[in-house]
Amino acid sequence: MGLQLASQGPNSLHYKKNLNMIKKSIIDHVPIKGIFNKLTIEDLDIKGKRVFIRADFNVPLDDNLKITDDRRIRSTLPTINYAIDEGAKVILSSHLGRPKGRPDPKLSLAPVAKRLQRLLNKEVNFAPDCIGSLVEDYVSKMNEGDVLVLENLRFHPGEEKNDEDFARAISKLADAYVNDAFGTAHRVHASLVGITRFLPSAAGFLLKKEIEHLKGIVDNPVRPFVAILGGAKVSGKIGVLENLVDKVDKVIVGGGMAYTFIKAMELEVGNSLVEEDMLVTAQRIRKKLKGIGIKFYLPVDCVISQSIEPGAETKIVPTLEIPKNWRAVDIGPASVKLFSEAIQDAKTILWNGPMGIFEIDAFSRGTFAIARAVADAYALTIVGGGDTDLAVHRAGVSDVISFISTGGGASLQLLEGKELPGIEALTNRENK
Ligand code: 3PG
Repeated sequence: MGLQLASQGPNSLHYKKNLNMIKKSIIDHVPIKGIFNKLTIEDLDIKGKRVFIRADFNVPLDDNLKITDDRRIRSTLPTINYAIDEGAKVILSSHLGRPKGRPDPKLSLAPVAKRLQRLLNKEVNFAPDCIGSLVEDYVSKMNEGDVLVLENLRFHPGEEKNDEDFARAISKLADAYVNDAFGTAHRVHASLVGITRFLPSAAGFLLKKEIEHLKGIVDNPVRPFVAILGGAKVSGKIGVLENLVDKVDKVIVGGGMAYTFIKAMELEVGNSLVEEDMLVTAQRIRKKLKGIGIKFYLPVDCVISQSIEPGAETKIVPTLEIPKNWRAVDIGPASVKLFSEAIQDAKTILWNGPMGIFEIDAFSRGTFAIARAVADAYALTIVGGGDTDLAVHRAGVSDVISFISTGGGASLQLLEGKELPGIEALTNRENK
């Protein structure tokens, strides 16, 4: 850590500003311009037009239907504000939860419309359905710059079936289609794929940014490039590991998935989580990485417990000394040191998956320490969505991470090197 930065203290604004500048300067070396080959909202002439924006407003709600985390709504604001400023009639749609093709008042998008009204500081209307003559009536009364939120798309079975009639019905509401729902872009649903057959189709700013970071930077990293993978299961990350093999310089594995790798080396892991059917695969991947000179790190110590309950007794032991009936629930301090040192020379860091069961306070230290180490690194730092997103926010370091994905499943699929159907369906730039 540089002297000047350290003297300002890691929580000072000055420190964070400098750190962010260093991180931003690295991105200049990545050829991300042109990586996104789809039309964007800026390519559409939307003045006075009805624009159907598919967002991912799948936000958590508490028992009183209050939104507990609105980051997914905020991340679409640049696209919504652009459409408003251009004088479009802005029709917003999304799913919320998994209502199985039937209306469910607990999964209404009404709270989202309310929150948007506050975030945009302007009136936002809410239509109690997403297709049909009532909704068409709402749309026909819109003026330039007006915003209308439609009810949950998944209240109709046609949405998840990518049904042609349903796609046609939602397309009737608009003159152009914009997809900004990165978190759902891995689904083949009517509002993501089917609708693009009926309307000029382009990407929103969030979608573009996600692809530039999760694909552009990961495919052309500034080296050294270190991947930190965690989470419960090897099976969930095997595709990512396979895709990263010829791109990374170091791989760090923590979280529950580490113990499948350790057991695969015929070592004891006590009662820790092990996917027996992944032992052979884990061993094969580890050998493959080592064979081509990629450094591979596993926890050297861990926090163990006999039960996964808040307040349960814990101990810190070397990884190879986990007693029977005890299981690893977090990485220990020696692993934190080892992993933190391993990322010190990195220029690009990708982190996906927590180091332990961080939702329980006593098992959260390792994950939060790694969040801080990633944030403090003089590297371009990319964090996969879902749990890891939550971890960097809880650790209080989200503002010094270069990019945090809004997608869980979608970001994993992209990191596996797979195409996302919701992006594939959009119009290619050369076909403009
Ligand atoms: C998510 O939260 O991962 C997306 O909104 C997709 O939701 P789904 O898994 O219900 O399709």
